Amino acid sequence: EKGGYEHFMLKEIHEQPKVVRDTINSVVKDGKIDFSSIGLTDDEMKKISQIYIVACGSAYHVGMAVQYVIEDFTSIPVRVELASEFRYRKMTLVKDSLVIIISQSGETADSLAALREAKEKGIMTLGIVNVVGSSIAREADNVFYTLAGPEISVATTKAYSTQLIAGYLLALQFAVAREEMTEEKCCELLKELYTIPDKIEKILEDKERIQWYANKLAGAKDAFFIGRGIDYAIGLEGSLKMKEISYIHSEAYAAGELKHGPISLIEEGIPVIGVLTQQELYEKTVSNMVEVKSRGASLMGLTTYGNYSMEDLADFTVYIPQTDSHFAGSLSVIPLQLLGYYVSVAKGYDVDKPRNLAKSVTVE
Ligand code: F6R
Repeated sequence: EKGGYEHFMLKEIHEQPKVVRDTINSVVKDGKIDFSSIGLTDDEMKKISQIYIVACGSAYHVGMAVQYVIEDFTSIPVRVELASEFRYRKMTLVKDSLVIIISQSGETADSLAALREAKEKGIMTLGIVNVVGSSIAREADNVFYTLAGPEISVATTKAYSTQLIAGYLLALQFAVAREEMTEEKCCELLKELYTIPDKIEKILEDKERIQWYANKLAGAKDAFFIGRGIDYAIGLEGSLKMKEISYIHSEAYAAGELKHGPISLIEEGIPVIGVLTQQELYEKTVSNMVEVKSRGASLMGLTTYGNYSMEDLADFTVYIPQTDSHFAGSLSVIPLQLLGYYVSVAKGYDVDKPRNLAKSVTVE
């Protein structure tokens, strides 16, 4: 049932090219996005003046990444909220808002409660859900089904990747419906999106290199992930993967925040993983990496082919294929999933069933 893989997590990591392609195909017809299966109409999208993305854990990290994409493609302000905070906060929701709940299981208690809260206030809702017929899928006004298929490993990988894809498609359709992006530009970006599965495949071909580095990390007590913009969102996910299955204390910071406190934790040999796929932020994050290196950090750089100056700086560099910067997170997350996985394997842990965690969190 693990299809020849040692763990479900590795099997699911390898399923990502397929499930990403399936999820794109589910809403693209003849080269155009068609949301008729989801419900949300172009007219509704035109009227929306505020988006809240509400979720827990990895799904929240998807929201963080998608926020940058929606705000870049459209003029709609986006807020990303943890479901367990959103539901208890007294917050005046702007009329003509859309609340997007992202949930693989569709049963997460806090996410479901947040959905109900929004509905009670008369706010339109959209679920990005993987499990068909789950509570969130049934109760949301509109549903975008991710086609990740059943995910067995507690640590999410393929569901996360399909949620990101759903987020990009949503951002594109919002932009086109509101005439904030031409059909032509959208078509061009869709073509690029279709290259993502093959590019993921390419990254997976190099997994032994990541395993080699993971073996060196296995003895670490702490790790830090840094990045800016989308790279920060991906760092959060990389950090969660590391801590939940490898039990290494790990933190992700927006790179610019280091000097406001966390840099005091940097000492000889601490691994710092820098994510640098956003070209306009590249030099800024490089300067943060130089700062931690001068304090003894052991650096891994995760960047795009072409940024070869990383070789001189980092102790270990991983390159991902070039793509449109908005979609780069779909590629940069893959080495980080592999890193968490291989550190866990090196430490001999039960990768698919990390201690204290359940696949579906139906308690508050
Ligand atoms: C981490 C992980 C969790 C889930 C979170 C939300 O690997 O899987 O952080 O993302 O519990 O679960 P869903 O998406 O089912 O609402």
